[in-house]
Amino acid sequence: MRRIGILTGGGDCPGLNAAIRAVVRKAVGAHGLEVLGFRDGWRGVADGDARALDATSVQGILHRGGTILGSSGMNPYREGGIERVRAAFSELDLDGIVAIGGDGTLGVGARLAEEGFPVLGVPKTIDNDLSGTDVCIGFQTAVQVATDAIDRLHTTAESHNRLMLVEVMGRSAGWIALYAGLAGGADAILIPERPFDVREVSEHLRQRHRHGHSFSIVVVAEGAAPVAGTLELPEYARDERGFVRYGGIAHHLAPALEELTGYEARVTVLGHVQRGGSPVAEDRVLATRFGEVAVDLAVAGRVGRMVAARGTDIVDVPLAGVAKVRPVPEELYRVAEVFFDP
Ligand code: F6P
Repeated sequence: MRRIGILTGGGDCPGLNAAIRAVVRKAVGAHGLEVLGFRDGWRGVADGDARALDATSVQGILHRGGTILGSSGMNPYREGGIERVRAAFSELDLDGIVAIGGDGTLGVGARLAEEGFPVLGVPKTIDNDLSGTDVCIGFQTAVQVATDAIDRLHTTAESHNRLMLVEVMGRSAGWIALYAGLAGGADAILIPERPFDVREVSEHLRQRHRHGHSFSIVVVAEGAAPVAGTLELPEYARDERGFVRYGGIAHHLAPALEELTGYEARVTVLGHVQRGGSPVAEDRVLATRFGEVAVDLAVAGRVGRMVAARGTDIVDVPLAGVAKVRPVPEELYRVAEVFFDP
């Protein structure tokens, strides 16, 4: 074992740099390996766009958001380039590639691993919806950003008889909405796992206000979906890869709630603010532990695996199949529901 590669793919998030630093420091310092950093995810492997990384290259990045390697959602199986990716392993003398990513990036990694290429996965996504791990890099920072926003909205909401809608990210699962809603004391949380009926939501809010509350905080995940036929939503745009570009559901929900409840509604869409800035301590620690274990796995030849959090332990699971969406469990939602009561 002499050389490994590393890449970050998909949407960025806080903690990626901490993971890159951990992989490089462990690989170089503990095992004397060379590390090649590929630019922009699998695109960099296909194009041979890489640079050597050493301890100096990763100095001062532990606390920095984003990724020093750049990121893209390029999928060489779909967009061409898979032959060049396969060839890169032998041409660049790679004994392994550590891919830090979400479902798309790790899906490519899993297919390559099935073909026999030595790939290791490190899970990241603020949405926290990858199967196989309890938590992904970026999630805890996004929850903190959303919680801070809810706290701020609380104090202004208290001054008016208003509904405050906070839209957070979460395409297919409502982890951020649920955690930030619990932490911030939301009065209603709408997530993709539980289609909502706008009439029921408005009745719930009216009841709160009848009980003497002068405001309500509604946290809505961008991918939340109304029960069919209860709220008209426009068709979402798609990005250049054909993926739905979410964002803005709260703007459609607010007028409907205003009309049904008679209370003024205001909307805050947090958007990419949740993906920016410094990672919180938990994300730095998680990313560091993930990166450190990933290198050990590479050295031990345990490839085709993804590092994962299981309780307070770091374990490894097969890379194949991790891309499945991990929904918020019903019992967790029920905990939040206790606090919706007026
Ligand atoms: O997958 C993570 C995520 O944060 C989603 O919640 C969101 O829909 C998406 O990324 C937005 O990504 P981008 O705007 O970078 O394409």
